[in-house]
Amino acid sequence: MSDKYVVAIDQGTTSSRAIVFDHKGTIFSVAQKEHEQIFPRAGWVEHNPIEVWDNVRAVVADALSQKSLTHNDIAAVGITNQRETTVVWDKTTGEPVYNAIVWQDTRTAKIVQELGGEIGQDRYKDRVGLPLATYFCGPKVKWILDNVDGARARAEAGDLVMGTMDTWVLWNMTGGVDGGVHVTDVTNASRTMLMDLKTLDWDAEIAADMTIPVSMLPEIKSSAEVYGIGRTQGMLAGVPIAGILGDQQAATFGQACFESGMAKNTYGTGNFMLMNTGTEIVPSKNGLLTTVCYKIGDQPAVYALEGSIAVTGSLVQWLRDNLRMFDSAPEVETLAATVDDNGGAYFVPAFSGLFAPYWRSDARGALVGLTRYVNRGHIARAVLEATAFQTREVLEAMEADSGVKLAELKVDGGMTANETLMQFQADELNVAVVRPVVAETTALGAAYAAGIAVGYWDGEQDVIDNWAESKRWTPSMDRDEADRLFRNWKKAVTRTFDWVDDDVIE
Ligand SMILES: Nc1ncnc2c1ncn2[C@@H]1O[C@H](COP(=O)(O)OP(=O)(O)OP(=O)(O)O)[C@@H](O)[C@H]1O
Ligand SMILES: [Mg+2]
Repeated sequence: MSDKYVVAIDQGTTSSRAIVFDHKGTIFSVAQKEHEQIFPRAGWVEHNPIEVWDNVRAVVADALSQKSLTHNDIAAVGITNQRETTVVWDKTTGEPVYNAIVWQDTRTAKIVQELGGEIGQDRYKDRVGLPLATYFCGPKVKWILDNVDGARARAEAGDLVMGTMDTWVLWNMTGGVDGGVHVTDVTNASRTMLMDLKTLDWDAEIAADMTIPVSMLPEIKSSAEVYGIGRTQGMLAGVPIAGILGDQQAATFGQACFESGMAKNTYGTGNFMLMNTGTEIVPSKNGLLTTVCYKIGDQPAVYALEGSIAVTGSLVQWLRDNLRMFDSAPEVETLAATVDDNGGAYFVPAFSGLFAPYWRSDARGALVGLTRYVNRGHIARAVLEATAFQTREVLEAMEADSGVKLAELKVDGGMTANETLMQFQADELNVAVVRPVVAETTALGAAYAAGIAVGYWDGEQDVIDNWAESKRWTPSMDRDEADRLFRNWKKAVTRTFDWVDDDVIE
């Protein structure tokens, strides 16, 4: 079987990718396609689920045909996905009743506040590991049932189902209206606010509070087992679909963080740091999430602490697309290199409120410390620094919650191509920052989960053996200066609080 390949489908926030891996865990071929980001009004972010499914099919076909592969060459398929983004569709027609509501979307702020009631943000935290926030799925489902004509009646009649993007892709791959499998994995389920972390089952009481019929929810399975067989024409027909992990958990898996205390940080649309805490559910006192890291087949679930940052790479995209400061993301580094420092400017990109460690849905973005001196270069620099400062806040919370002092930080994702950022990151954290050879750790992790489930790989040791370091940045900045900048950052963060009130229309 080792002469075959494993395909990972990475259904991300900005694009969908299909990557074919060989037995050594190296990339054999890759295809990628962006989908439209739909912003119907301030604070709302949607994707068209049909477009996303079309893109997934297109990239799989492309990745296979580049190397003249057919389904006979593929041992298994793994799916990884942007987490929390929620689709509700009619299982009798396959039609979504509304666009997918994306994780960054803040329209559920009122629902979330009402759910918290007297008790507040932490009402469900001991059961689901999460604070009430617009980020998670449950309130998004409620919004669709409350606001789409007829949706609630159809849901109660049993015609509508919900899913995160893994579930949507899997259901379509396995036949859709013609017997599609309606399943998710524990990592994705742990982001709905509807799953009990201990029992790994839906919490009927929370679903009732959110007025969501439990019959809409997918069956929860492990992250590595055969869920179904590809049945859609041209879509890997006959191949077992055998791994599902939310993108950040997949990256943790692909980075071989299998021991308690091991952590990785991914720099994509947002940043997500996860630390493996073994089979222990560690509640956070410092604004982190407690989440499922992975579960391989019948083995016990492994948990993680997570620091989620909503906006990092997408701030670079915002400079590119909304301000037209440059044509491609890497040019932010060229622009930042025209200056020596941030010129006193700090950019707090609270576009979706602030996630970890603050969880403030009333915050909105701010660019502060401006004077006549500040130019485009300083703003580019401030944008890169914002990613590093936010990461330092999360790392400090992580160390406080876990009692583990990180010796180095494993990183991956698109922004790690940025040398200026990676050096500044090492300077701010005062630990080495290390990037592996295969920076596509998200897809890699999903491929490993699927490959392990079908016996293509033996287990975690293969992942460890295949991991290799490519680049390392070590701290070189004066400590006092690094700390002074960080203190100013924290001051800038406070300037974004309390912005959204009844006078702000979203
Ligand atoms: N050289 C660079 N400097 C700074 N930012 C960069 C650079 N190259 C890419 N980015 C940013 O990295 C992000 C893309 O990273 P990556 O490809 O890991 O994300 P992604 O996996 O597509 O995201 P998602 O999974 O959320 O769709 C973009 O937001 C882009 O702005
Ligand atoms: Mg990604």
